[in-house]
Amino acid sequence: MTTTDPVTLMKQAVGKAAADRVQSGMIVGLGTGSTTAYAIQSIGERLRAGDLKDIKGIPTSFQAIVLAKEYGIPLTTLDEVEKIDLAIDGADEVDPHKNLIKGGGAAHTREKIVDTLAEYFIVVVDSSKIVDRLGSTFLLPVEVLPLAMTPVMRAITKLGGQPQLRMGVKKAGPVITDQGNFVIDVKFDRIDDPATLEKELNNIPGVLENGLFVGVTDLVLIGEVKDGQPIVREM
Ligand code: 5RP
Repeated sequence: MTTTDPVTLMKQAVGKAAADRVQSGMIVGLGTGSTTAYAIQSIGERLRAGDLKDIKGIPTSFQAIVLAKEYGIPLTTLDEVEKIDLAIDGADEVDPHKNLIKGGGAAHTREKIVDTLAEYFIVVVDSSKIVDRLGSTFLLPVEVLPLAMTPVMRAITKLGGQPQLRMGVKKAGPVITDQGNFVIDVKFDRIDDPATLEKELNNIPGVLENGLFVGVTDLVLIGEVKDGQPIVREM
């Protein structure tokens, strides 16, 4: 189906641009979210057209598993491979150092495992995700074991954050991650030192992983609309 919605056009363009960098024989980390979904679709189309061969995907979520199956991308696991050649994933915020906030889809724990292991990590975003400082527009997601929710929230408050439990949409009660945990979204007035905050949060007992991705990204592909046409630029 064709669309003229500019955000969708940007996401499609940037997803395809990332998929074009996949080469035959690669093990590819498949990220999560609406932008990455277009990259997964595009990889599948290249496979079907015979333009790509011998690809295996490592999914970062149930969403990625479902999409890979839909578009005919064979999947494997971290137990079966020695390396991941390339990972493609979205982000909720990108700063000028290519550091990220992720976890809008509550998948940041698996995403960080896969994206960090990849030899080359491409982030796909539309231009609305580019910020001067992390935390400006998006709350920072933290995945937490349900039994530790209350002490973790207290510890986060001591670090200067305002935590709130993420609630489900079309589901009563909290969001449950693919691992069966909760997500706490945290408002920080400013995140001046993301590398330190990433470690401090992960050091709280009961926290599995937070959505700060520091020093992981190799390339950011940014979708923009210019004169009504989608274009892709690199950061
Ligand atoms: C999921 C993520 C997503 O990559 C992030 O939320 C971006 O999603 P979208 O491309 O739909 O804006 O981190 O946990």
